[in-house]
Amino acid sequence: MSIICPCATIVSMKKVQHLVETIKPTNYDLFINLNRKQKAFKGTVLTQFELQESTSKIPIHAKGLKLASAKVSGKPAKTEESDHDVVYLVVESQLEAGSHYFQVDFEGKITDPMVGLYPCYFKHGNEDDTLLATQFESHHAREVFPCIDEPAAKATFNLSIKTHKEDVVISNTPEQSAKVSGQHKTTVFEQTPVMSTYLLAFVTGNLEYLEAKTKSGISVKTWATPANVKFTEFSLDVAVKCLDYYEEFFKIAYPLEKCDMIALPDFAAGAMENWGCVTYRESAMLVDEKNTSLDGKQWVAMVVAHELAHQWFGNLVTMEWWTDLWLNEGFASWVEYMAVDKLFPDWQMWTQFVTDDYMRAQGLDSLANTHPVEVEVNDPDEIRNIFDAISYSKGASVIRMLFEYLGEEDFREGLAHYLNINKYKNAKTQDLWSALEEKSGKNVSEFMSEWTSQSGFPVVSAEISDDKIKLTQQRFIINPEERKKAKAQTWPIPIDSTHTKQQFLFKNAHDMWQTKSASFAKLNTDQTGFYVTKYSKEHLAKLADQVASGKIGVIDRLGLISDSFSLAQASYSSTLDALELLESYSKEDNAAVWDQIAGDISVMRRVMQTDDVRENLKPYLRALSYPQVERLGWKPHKRESHFDTLMRPTVLAMASLGENEEVVTEAIRRFNGAKSPEDIEPDLRSVVYGTAVRNGGKTEFDKLLSFYESTSSAQEKVKLASALCSFEQVELIEKSLELIKSNQVKLQEVSYWVAYCFFNRHARDMTWQWFKENWKWIVDKFGTDIMTIASFPNYPARVFASKELEKEYAEFFEKNKIPGLERPVKQGIEAIEWQTLWRERDEQKIADYLKAKQDPLS
Ligand code: BES
Ligand code: ZN
Repeated sequence: MSIICPCATIVSMKKVQHLVETIKPTNYDLFINLNRKQKAFKGTVLTQFELQESTSKIPIHAKGLKLASAKVSGKPAKTEESDHDVVYLVVESQLEAGSHYFQVDFEGKITDPMVGLYPCYFKHGNEDDTLLATQFESHHAREVFPCIDEPAAKATFNLSIKTHKEDVVISNTPEQSAKVSGQHKTTVFEQTPVMSTYLLAFVTGNLEYLEAKTKSGISVKTWATPANVKFTEFSLDVAVKCLDYYEEFFKIAYPLEKCDMIALPDFAAGAMENWGCVTYRESAMLVDEKNTSLDGKQWVAMVVAHELAHQWFGNLVTMEWWTDLWLNEGFASWVEYMAVDKLFPDWQMWTQFVTDDYMRAQGLDSLANTHPVEVEVNDPDEIRNIFDAISYSKGASVIRMLFEYLGEEDFREGLAHYLNINKYKNAKTQDLWSALEEKSGKNVSEFMSEWTSQSGFPVVSAEISDDKIKLTQQRFIINPEERKKAKAQTWPIPIDSTHTKQQFLFKNAHDMWQTKSASFAKLNTDQTGFYVTKYSKEHLAKLADQVASGKIGVIDRLGLISDSFSLAQASYSSTLDALELLESYSKEDNAAVWDQIAGDISVMRRVMQTDDVRENLKPYLRALSYPQVERLGWKPHKRESHFDTLMRPTVLAMASLGENEEVVTEAIRRFNGAKSPEDIEPDLRSVVYGTAVRNGGKTEFDKLLSFYESTSSAQEKVKLASALCSFEQVELIEKSLELIKSNQVKLQEVSYWVAYCFFNRHARDMTWQWFKENWKWIVDKFGTDIMTIASFPNYPARVFASKELEKEYAEFFEKNKIPGLERPVKQGIEAIEWQTLWRERDEQKIADYLKAKQDPLS
């Protein structure tokens, strides 16, 4: 018998052994007996496997489990621990290569960090209740049963689970039988298809469901705790439509008999694509008309579309190793837009793609410390920092560029071909390129490898005259100090332009595009290329005129303004150029463009923290938002467009920041009149709360806290957290920091609270103090939760912009290293560096510029 301590894991950057090269499992017979009260489980696993070569030591994965009575092909085996969660089953005599089986009894604990097998807490009426759920991606299956926990070790699973007899039990496949004995029940599930361990899942407890069927008869059920099940109607509808859509899009039937989706009260990420048993955070699945804002509803549709895309892309065909994670996540992050755009054409999802994924990707990729899309991963512990904007959003952006380059038909043919030849198997990035090449006849690998194997992306400088465009490319690095050290790089860039349908493939550092009538050209039509464009001042002025007179399309307007701010942040130009350009947007009426403008201004406010900038910005914001505030008002118009409803909170928030008196008064009136959040329209709550906070104190804090305590809506809690963390009074900041560790804040919400406290400039220093004092607590709670822990270094980095803070930040993380956080910390230091340089360069200029501006409307 051996006890494997989770803290004994030694992490090194050296290549770990891939167990599947030695032992290939084919089937797991797995029985787990859950003891919810004692937060413990016991089980037995019987695994059939193929031994690749003769040995007396069989390596398997197990972590934090107590192992007993191990046998290999009927013979007793000793267990011998090694590093990287490997345990050897050691038998006396040599085993021949070929078919064998091992059988092990095991015991484990159910603990709060939301990985492996963990409890979810909720209220059933006034009673406390608990569900149990699993989260195995990326490598947490080994915390629940001994297995070969690698994506390439695909096998079938026969799972049985013993629970209390009243509990609902859900897993990947339909229930085959359920036998009640006394107070207990053993549920046996049908055998799964061949699949990876990270996709196995089960959930049990007091759950209810709604059901609908797809066109091809697949049963889709949406599960939630009893009070919430009525809020799953929307996600159920989206799920059914997405499955129909993907069956057609991928040209392959949904591979299982049923699809369950479960909203869990505690969840680390947003959602997880377990095959046929998809789990979600409640805020990513529940839509409650009384509490969900329109952007919250959109989020639900996008998450559902994303996870269901994985049922094919990821689950049916799985990456060989984590190096190709980007392909899973980048692809799903792209195709979710395809699906939701199809389901809700008036949501303009592809316009939103640019403000969301494309810009998020460029933000991270503009650092010298970014990484290539295809990134080497040795130890799975290293993968904690690659679930990031590069794998997801840059991955999605380069796939979008490829889709445009190949055209829809060839792309879809190639994709279906890839899925067909690799189904129930594993694949690498190159396999997708080969399938696309076969169907399109184009050299996809050559085109794509430059984008996926190199770090960063280019800035294209364009000198435009009527009959030619002189082009130059270099890597866009936001930090001018780092830029000096950078080596020369080029990318194959398909250059589109608004003045022609022709395209120019720009491959070298310099080139000349001979063309016609280019005087008013805006390059990168619809921002399909992954690059930033820099124009001369004269040409930018021409484009600004075109924006003002409405001659440029939505995504191009969006691209012009976002490129201008990126160029300013990186010192390719001055922030004043971007602000000047912004003035031509006075008639802008598109929500996504406004979202971008508001985002750029908010980054500027976060970095330029002087009172001067803040004060002088107010009349500017007032004037900027005025026309749209007048147009939209507070009340939705009859048959208002989706985009107008989305835009209202953005422009009202801007007006409120600008102290537009009418808006401030109305927001406060609404806040004071509300007895519960539901008295305020969901779309307007963030403006109402934000305004009340800026103009309030203890009374407002207490009211918001009582709202927080009484609401059961997970989305609403996030909005309220943002408000509660934004007060300027020291005693209220202290209170919100205290709340973080209290049982009023769920673990899954902690990162929001920490981020929001940092984003409050009055709370910044106190939050940093809190952060340092509580780092051990953070690591204890989230150290094993890949997505969450890697995001913590980012929060202070987003708001620090001085040499002193950079030093403190670097010293703190130097003293408090944890494996896998090296890259996020380096990125944090670099962010502080460029923000400091930007502030030093432009802060005073911005303050003076804004001051000199008249405010004709105040
Ligand atoms: N596979 C991921 C969830 C995941 C990530 C599990 C990291 C374990 C570690 C899932 O498909 C995903 O990407 N979820 C996103 C939502 C999506 C809409 C971008 C998430 O959780 O944020
Ligand atoms: Zn995903």
